[in-house]
Amino acid sequence: MRIAFNPARELDRVVRAVAASTPGFGGEFNPEIRPADPRFGDYQANGVLPQAKAAKANPRALAVALLDALKASPEFDAAHITAEIAGPGFINFKLTPAYYAGWLARFGDEASLRAGAAALYHGKSVIIDYPSPNTAKQMHVGHLRPMVVGEAVARLLEFCGAKLTRDNHIGDWGTNFGTIILAIKRTGYTLDAANDNALEELENLYKLGSGWIKSNPADGDASRAELVKLQNGDAENLALWEKIVAVSNAACERQYARLGVKPDVTLGESFYRDKVDRVYAELTDTGLAETSEGALVVWHDDEPRWKRDGGTPFIIRKRDGASNYASTDLATILYRVEHFRADECVYVTDGRQQEHFQQLFLTADKWFKKTGRTLPSLRHVWFGTILGEDGKAIKTKSGDPIRLKQLLDEAEERAFAIVTEKSADLPEDERRAIARTVGVASIRYADLVQNRTLDYTFSWDKLLAFEGNTAPYLLYAVVRTRSIFRKLGLELGQGEEGASAPETPHEISLARKLVNFSGAVDLACTELRPHHLCTYLYELAGEFSSFIAADRVIHDDPAVRARRLRLCARTCATLESGLRLLGIEPLERM
Ligand code: ARG
Repeated sequence: MRIAFNPARELDRVVRAVAASTPGFGGEFNPEIRPADPRFGDYQANGVLPQAKAAKANPRALAVALLDALKASPEFDAAHITAEIAGPGFINFKLTPAYYAGWLARFGDEASLRAGAAALYHGKSVIIDYPSPNTAKQMHVGHLRPMVVGEAVARLLEFCGAKLTRDNHIGDWGTNFGTIILAIKRTGYTLDAANDNALEELENLYKLGSGWIKSNPADGDASRAELVKLQNGDAENLALWEKIVAVSNAACERQYARLGVKPDVTLGESFYRDKVDRVYAELTDTGLAETSEGALVVWHDDEPRWKRDGGTPFIIRKRDGASNYASTDLATILYRVEHFRADECVYVTDGRQQEHFQQLFLTADKWFKKTGRTLPSLRHVWFGTILGEDGKAIKTKSGDPIRLKQLLDEAEERAFAIVTEKSADLPEDERRAIARTVGVASIRYADLVQNRTLDYTFSWDKLLAFEGNTAPYLLYAVVRTRSIFRKLGLELGQGEEGASAPETPHEISLARKLVNFSGAVDLACTELRPHHLCTYLYELAGEFSSFIAADRVIHDDPAVRARRLRLCARTCATLESGLRLLGIEPLERM
């Protein structure tokens, strides 16, 4: 079997090819290659049993036939892979140490790993929509996940060969602008993008205006009048709106920068305001949309929740004629297809938007079919809520959401105290720099380590701990691998000449784990769930600890020493590549 980035995919290919000419297996045979319990091998094929059942054949006899055919195939060489039958008709596969050695030689650094992974998306054009906050609001803890999950998913997609566009679809065309503009005009407030507190002040202006509207209906009319003027292109209101958006974007960018988020384009809801008419027209002409109580709606009779009697429709134009979240999102899909030639669109938002995206995707599917277009693959990457220690959505004591800036500042302060305690000998500016990385990395990692669709409880002690599946633990694991080379006066990757294949149980176990990076990346990218990568990195770090505890790296035999140094260097490169994929820049020292 050829050395491939993800041996599971290569094995799948070989088994399918061999099965195609083996009696008892049709062309549709799926071998169902899965990771195996390491005691029995690397992979197992589970597909023979269902195949036997469908053909009313004896599964064990079928498995024997397939195994014999595999062993006879030139693609299946015993130097790289061995196989045996287990149970009623499973096949277990074991890669040989020579395969591991070949893999480690071929996928030796971040660039080669990236090249290996690139087959998965193979130049597909993907738009990823994040962090997409709403304008004129301060960023708070609720904005953490779209940034952290979005960035990790984006990096995974890029690593796996996607031609990626990060599109920041900001909510910059809402009804709140009427109220803010009213309050700005009445108070004579000056907007200034360089003002650090601008967003807080805008938020206060909005609260002020909302207060007026509550106590005085005439102010409600005044606010709506400002909104209508804005929507009709009134020059003064448009200029004010533009400034509000600019001030807001400048403030958000300061937080993006701290989390390493760099949108390629920022095409907010307002960008689509002249593109929604085409959506209304096409959906009406194709008979998908109809007027209901003054609004334009789409019913989905094939889905009980959204069918005409008893369900709720997808409203694509409001009764007052204004566009909404649905209209702009439909226009956005078309734009992404026509302008960016998107093969796939990935949306990263809170789980509470699931129904919106389900209705959106279903509507787009029908719309594209009726108009003879090809729909890109549309994926909603949603996430759960961050909970406080009381089990409810995390808040400050006064009940407000925690500001993102405060949260990140606190993370850095706490990390600084820990770094100072552990490495008091380092100069202060270096400790500060380390704390900046460790603080933000800890918050980020605690968010990513959970399956994104679950809620998780925010705990400073847990996320900053040096034990357990945390950022400090993994960052420290990198530092440890690097220090082996530093002590020897070697660069990473030096001293590997003449390395032999892994031999001891710990060497083999670590080598197998290193090869499994490909499987973890593949899975994380296929499901767009970064926690698979976190689980993997944690296990790799553990495997490495066991290895250096058991096998002396600086061995007298140069071949042993070289192959152990190779394992150290690969562990370092793999941990570093993995952390970078999660948005964490590894440290040399800490
Ligand atoms: N602005 C929205 C929010 O803050 C998220 C937008 C997500 N993207 C989209 N195309 N709908 O909830």
